[in-house]
Amino acid sequence: MFYLLLTGDIPTYEECVAITEEWRRRSELPKYLIDFMNAIPVDTHPMTQFSLAILQLQKDSIFAERYRKGMHKLDYWDPMYEDVMNILAKLPAIAAYIYRRTYKGNVHIPADPKLDWGGNFAHMLGVTDDPAFKDLMRLYLVLHCDHEGGNVSAHTCHLVGSALSDAYYSLSAAMNGLAGPLHGLANQEVLRWIMEMMEKIGQDPTKEQISQYIWDTLNAGKVVPGYGHAVLRKTDPRFIAQREFALKHLPDDPIFKVVSKVFEVAPDILMKHGKAKNPWPNVDAHSGCLLWHYGVTEYDFYTVFFGVSRALGVLAQLIWDRGLGLPIERPKSVTTEWIEQFIASQQANKA
Ligand SMILES: CC(C)(COP(=O)(O)OP(=O)(O)OC[C@H]1O[C@@H](n2cnc3c(N)ncnc32)[C@H](O)[C@@H]1OP(=O)(O)O)[C@@H](O)C(=O)NCCC(=O)NCCS
Repeated sequence: MFYLLLTGDIPTYEECVAITEEWRRRSELPKYLIDFMNAIPVDTHPMTQFSLAILQLQKDSIFAERYRKGMHKLDYWDPMYEDVMNILAKLPAIAAYIYRRTYKGNVHIPADPKLDWGGNFAHMLGVTDDPAFKDLMRLYLVLHCDHEGGNVSAHTCHLVGSALSDAYYSLSAAMNGLAGPLHGLANQEVLRWIMEMMEKIGQDPTKEQISQYIWDTLNAGKVVPGYGHAVLRKTDPRFIAQREFALKHLPDDPIFKVVSKVFEVAPDILMKHGKAKNPWPNVDAHSGCLLWHYGVTEYDFYTVFFGVSRALGVLAQLIWDRGLGLPIERPKSVTTEWIEQFIASQQANKA
């Protein structure tokens, strides 16, 4: 997937194996990083730990070092590529370390060099031996990796990188954006919302009960998590891909059944409510129930999965940013007077 995002071509099997081997070679976490992660208070949100760990690795940035030595601007892409490869190689181990330290008594599982990037990540989490979980991780990491550049995490990475900040600074910042509840954190919010529903109205709620719960959410001035999208105007294909996985592997899972019933009733309600431009589910409406099924029940961790995956897309774009010599970003600002005049002209047009 990274090869595809970077080059636009589907890699051969041999090229996939070569990248897997390259990442395996670069994957070891330095001792200073482990010491640093162990010093973070264990009740710190996993996304904060993740962002901090990426930032701490910045001291090893090859881009920053070469820039200090005075590299030519036509060469920027090359050390950016090296930094990106080093980061991507380490992200699964960093994420697994945070998971095991936070939730599994700081007992860690060594990497399995025979496994691919996604399969090894699933292995190091140590939640189950079911091979379907490795497949889920592969699916998950593919589905969440890319998006056009306008979403918060991709745009943040591009924006910070436009100041010639290196890949560590740029990705850490992108992860802080991903940690917002309207963006990546929505996957944890969905599960929290569904759990609260099941606690309140029972493990097997009817469609009528779910409808009432959705209306209660909206009437309390809250969003229905996992629904709506800034760009899409239909059911997110990534939701469908996860639904197909669930229908194959866990059709009788009680949370999956609730997710399916919400899917049946929520779009109509959101249309009646009349605010959301897109009443259909997005990627986050489904992922939590799959993770929970295989034993990842600590939903505060869910956005870290999203982050490991999203890094593939935003970092591929960052290499291209430097390759294309894109300039520093500088959005135009307007004055309060300009805003007042703009609103007045809009109102005059309506009248
Ligand atoms: C994704 C999201 C942030 C897009 O925001 P957006 O581009 O501003 O969406 P819209 O243009 O459709 O928003 C118009 C209005 O509908 C509301 N709306 C959008 N989605 C809604 C939802 N799922 N539940 C309730 N209200 C919603 C917005 O809050 C906004 O209300 P406002 O005018 O009072 O501010 C938004 O749909 C949302 O908050 N969804 C829930 C969180 C979520 O699932 N995020 C993950 C996205 S992948």
